[in-house]
Amino acid sequence: MPEQKRVLCKLAALALSLPLVSSLNLNVTAIGARDGFATLECWQMDSPFETSSQPGTSGTAMAMLSSVSNLSYSIIPSGFDGGVHNAPYTQWVMFTTGLAYITLPSDGNVSALVPGGQFGLIFAADTKDVTPEGHRTQYPGITETIALQIPTKDGKVPPHSVLHTGPCIANDVAGVREFAMAGATNVSQKVEARAENLLSFHLR
Ligand SMILES: *[C@@H]1O[C@H](CO)[C@@H](O)[C@H](O)[C@H]1NC(C)=O
Ligand SMILES: *[C@@H]1O[C@H](CO)[C@@H](O)[C@H](O)[C@H]1NC(C)=O
Ligand SMILES: *[C@@H]1O[C@H](CO)[C@@H](O)[C@H](O)[C@H]1NC(C)=O
Ligand SMILES: *[C@@H]1O[C@H](CO)[C@@H](O)[C@H](O)[C@H]1NC(C)=O
Repeated sequence: MPEQKRVLCKLAALALSLPLVSSLNLNVTAIGARDGFATLECWQMDSPFETSSQPGTSGTAMAMLSSVSNLSYSIIPSGFDGGVHNAPYTQWVMFTTGLAYITLPSDGNVSALVPGGQFGLIFAADTKDVTPEGHRTQYPGITETIALQIPTKDGKVPPHSVLHTGPCIANDVAGVREFAMAGATNVSQKVEARAENLLSFHLR
């Protein structure tokens, strides 16, 4: 257990300052389309993170991703198979819990396993007008999957570049993780205190 604490303190020492937000861009797994077929890619959004001045999050990193149209909340049972379908709208999909497994009927070599939670945000742009076929989504988790579907305003695809084919991987979200322990002034003290809390929670 003291070993865990030592590792956390070491990490804290490395994270003495906030990452530079203006050079940080969000990367999300996206279902796109090329030559009439759906694709799975890791997209980097053009609009960078900025330092928020909004009450409650002032000083933290915020990226304004796009204008949106509306928001729906879906509860999808464990084991559900959404079948092959097109994105109903050009939209953000945020999986808050559960597990989504996305495959492409046209390309068996690529798939995305998206766990709900911190990295559960994807973008879906394979609407019927750009690909007749689309993608397949299955929900193989043992819990329900919760999905927030957020169509963009006027069906716009937010400006982005393609980092690589296939879903985003750990390296593509490393910039988010950098914030875990940054920003605290007395970092090692705070982390030590947190470690104590975690340990006592574990022992309960
Ligand atoms: C939600 O947004 C989409 C895309 O803009 C639109 O087509 C749809 O009618 C909207 N649904 C509701 C219930 O407002
Ligand atoms: C999938 O991978 C196989 C084996 O590496 C390769 O022969 C095939 O061309 C690939 N298919 C596509 C659509 O990339
Ligand atoms: C997005 O990807 C770039 C390049 O791989 C990486 O430097 C950056 O940290 C990633 N962004 C986030 C928010 O993780
Ligand atoms: C940091 O810790 C020192 C020593 O415990 C304390 O005197 C100081 O007020 C702390 N600073 C902040 C910003 O919490």
